Amino acid sequence: MCGIVGYIGKEPSKILINKLKKLEYRGYDSAGIAVGSVNNIRIFKAVGEIKNLEKTVVPAKDAAFGIGHTRWATHGKPDETNAHPHLSSDRKWIVVHNGIIENYAVLKEKLSGKGYAFYSETDTEVIAKLLEYYSGKTCGDLNIIAETLAALKGSFALGIINAEKDGIYFAKNKSPLFIARNGENVMLASDIICFKGFAEEYYALPDGVFGFADKNGIKFFDSIGETDIKPCILDLDEYDDLNKYKHFMLKEIYETKSAVKNILEYYSGINIDKVFSGCDFGKIKRIKFVGCGTAYHACLLGAIAVEEKTGIECGAFVASEFRYSDPKISEDTLVVLISQSGETADTLAALEQAKVKGAYTVAIVNVEYSTLKKGAHAYLPIKAGVEIAVASTKAFSAQLVVLEIFAEMLAEKFGIKHANFEGVRKLYENFDYGNVNSYKLLADALRYNDRLFMIGRGRDYCIAQEASLKIKETSYINSDTYYAGELKHGFLALIDEQTYVIVFATQKNVLQKTLCNAEEARARGAKIILFTCFDLDQSETENFYYVIKIKEIDGGLQNVLSIVPWQIIAYYTSVSKGINPDKPRNLAKSVTVE
Ligand code: G6P
Repeated sequence: MCGIVGYIGKEPSKILINKLKKLEYRGYDSAGIAVGSVNNIRIFKAVGEIKNLEKTVVPAKDAAFGIGHTRWATHGKPDETNAHPHLSSDRKWIVVHNGIIENYAVLKEKLSGKGYAFYSETDTEVIAKLLEYYSGKTCGDLNIIAETLAALKGSFALGIINAEKDGIYFAKNKSPLFIARNGENVMLASDIICFKGFAEEYYALPDGVFGFADKNGIKFFDSIGETDIKPCILDLDEYDDLNKYKHFMLKEIYETKSAVKNILEYYSGINIDKVFSGCDFGKIKRIKFVGCGTAYHACLLGAIAVEEKTGIECGAFVASEFRYSDPKISEDTLVVLISQSGETADTLAALEQAKVKGAYTVAIVNVEYSTLKKGAHAYLPIKAGVEIAVASTKAFSAQLVVLEIFAEMLAEKFGIKHANFEGVRKLYENFDYGNVNSYKLLADALRYNDRLFMIGRGRDYCIAQEASLKIKETSYINSDTYYAGELKHGFLALIDEQTYVIVFATQKNVLQKTLCNAEEARARGAKIILFTCFDLDQSETENFYYVIKIKEIDGGLQNVLSIVPWQIIAYYTSVSKGINPDKPRNLAKSVTVE
């Protein structure tokens, strides 16, 4: 994870701080910048959010360039010593890094043997010391950097300063890095959102590329020599205005309906054959959905939707497991990678593995300039717009909508029926955020719990998983999910009079079974919160502690109307506990490390 930024131009500290704030979604446990001019670089660091760093920075009038970093700790606790930038012993080389150096322990041992002393627990400090080491072995900064990069195993996006030179070096391997220019000013960043208002074009660095930027321009190199990279047009939605909202999480939940509209507009005119060009559907025998966190929950529901509509065997997999499990994949397999960011390291590794084994790959992704989008054979955008809050909300709902569309598209490709997106139109027309006051009341009750249980069957179970994750992420309540039918196989032993059991019951075919399971838990003293879209007889619900009734719509898209209330409940539970729902402790939005 982590976010890096670099800037050449006037007032670099101010610009670096502003841009780091935009990258905070990548980590916010500590931050630092190195700014100044040739032979006059100053370093500032602080623990916590960028606003803490901002208070410590003393701007220098003659400062002309700098690099900055916002950290999500991987090696060493989040304190000032481990915060980036990191330095060589002679303080000549200054480095910020996003990624993980897998062979850092071996390199550290070797360098220690040569007399180098280390002050931090980070893998990044090894890079600074290696630069110093190769300075004694070879001439010219670019050669020194090339030798250093060749010694590294793992992932990195790097911003490097040589304190004796005017400008910034950079390098990229498996962690995102972009660079843009505006006249004599240059900006380096982990995300192109930093370029908004700065440049109209940017360069997306491919893996293995490094280079140097100063006020005269940017030079790119690869293993062969100087290379050329074509610029891309910067095309970004407006996103960073909270409007009337206090937090991005709530704002983003309320953007769900417009995301559904965007999806409908985009997919209504789609050429299905073109989307899946190169795929031999006659060969496809199985479909695997792969993702992490919230996106994995979308995979669970996607697998159900596609299997229902196509009859093809489908399965959902957590990317970090999938990549090491030697999954059964060949040319007869469609592998669908789902991700908001398109930069999640495990999901990208799963993509590579699927491609190596000959599968046709489909990326269902929000960020259109992401590595996942570029790497997959086919791409289905989820059209949710920029999502800032760490807990994913509108992006998950948009993934569910696109998965229903995907299922329809596949049904057409497999010759079962013509794709029909009417369900999405109905969802849009009937979109309902529900009774928010009742959600607030429930949030008030839930905030005093340190554990919750959620149960459901089929699709309801998947939604319960995601609801549970939202509560965990934003409210720090230990919330567990069980298949309703599994209660009697162990879970009932956990129940007493203090236990809240939230029962998801939005599917007619298993409604009565699920209500029976709720009764089993209630009989052991549990307080039942029933979550349903059906009008039930009073006799069926009178013993329950609380009932939430939501709008009913046909088919799988009911799941969108089911998750939105839980996103709102999680938000209000978080706020009532005094937590910032946009930045839960220890988490980050884009997880670019394993
Ligand atoms: C992190 C985020 C989650 C997200 C997961 C997968 O853990 O905190 O909100 O669901 O990564 O991210 P992706 O960008 O691949 O959807």
